[in-house]
Amino acid sequence: MNAFYGLFIVCALALAALVGVGGGGMTGLFAVAIPYAAVAIFVVGFALKVMCWAKSPVPFRIPTTGGQQKSLDWIPYARYDNPVNSRDTVVRMILEVLTFRSLFRNTTAVLGKTPDGKPQVGYFSEKWLWLAAILFHYSFLLIVIRHMRFFTEPVPLPIQWLDWADSILQIYSPTLYQTNLLFLAGLGWLLARRLLYPQIRYISNAADYFALFLIIGIALSGIYMRYVAKVDIVSIKQFTMSLVMFSPVVPKEIAPSFFVHLFLVCVLLAYFPFSKLMHLGGVFLSPTRNLPNDSRIHHHENPWNPKIKPHSYEAYEDDFREAMVEAGLPVVKQLEEEA
Ligand code: HEM
Repeated sequence: MNAFYGLFIVCALALAALVGVGGGGMTGLFAVAIPYAAVAIFVVGFALKVMCWAKSPVPFRIPTTGGQQKSLDWIPYARYDNPVNSRDTVVRMILEVLTFRSLFRNTTAVLGKTPDGKPQVGYFSEKWLWLAAILFHYSFLLIVIRHMRFFTEPVPLPIQWLDWADSILQIYSPTLYQTNLLFLAGLGWLLARRLLYPQIRYISNAADYFALFLIIGIALSGIYMRYVAKVDIVSIKQFTMSLVMFSPVVPKEIAPSFFVHLFLVCVLLAYFPFSKLMHLGGVFLSPTRNLPNDSRIHHHENPWNPKIKPHSYEAYEDDFREAMVEAGLPVVKQLEEEA
């Protein structure tokens, strides 16, 4: 049911753009007002979220560690899985962001049987999620970088090289981008695992499916435009450049499918700062990732601790010894000793 809700909302959004531009004459809204609003929401929302996280106090070291901690000099320790200084923590963070190392350690729980037939839980390495995540994220990145050709004139050389490399197989006309296939393959697996595995289906809510269907919708509408509808790229570039120059002009030759693509991208941008997709910014601020595990090397005092004047038991007894003896309570130091 949750998958259905996600799919339904994305289809309704796509239809809204199609009807709004095709029949409703709301081109100005979908082509100009919504894109500017979406970018503003994304930039302001992203910045506010990051600033809010950056302001959250983190009094203690709480890194998640995945290897031997540093202790005695002659015991080797896991430098990047259990870093103790800023340099190694930065290296660990870079490796995490670029290669998803923590996801590479992902395991799956399988209910099996012992030799004598009793039920037993076993844990196995599960690399498919990591592979799908890598395919999806890197393809997304390359597609977005390639799209910069719509927003720049002249198109910078690195973007032209990327375009050339991504279509190097020279299949089909217009040439097929490898990232399009890899993007769909990654997204397909991310969706399939939520639908196929009962445990993952159980913990998946409508927002999980919505994000996936929204990105799949963006990919499919883009692929449709390029390989099926073969939209008028010159008019589209004229339009995107006019948006960038803050003097929007919407050529009539632009097919409605472009506005479906653009509207879904706008929804993604506006939704991004309020969704789980904010892990893009959050990973850099996560104290489980960005702190060295140096609690055994440095004393970290909680800055929120109230300033308490310590009152030891000895001092307490000195203050109340007479009353304690009178009440029959045991004391460490007797009254005579004190005298
Ligand atoms: C989240 C951001 C976006 C994603 C993931 C995305 C994804 C895609 C994909 C997968 C394609 C298929 C062909 C290709 O890979 O180039 C495509 C095509 C296209 N996209 Fe996007 N897109 C995004 C944003 C935009 C934006 C902001 C615009 C313009 C304002 C745009 C305009 C187009 C156009 C015109 C095509 C057809 C390209 C061609 O025929 O060569 N896209 N998009």
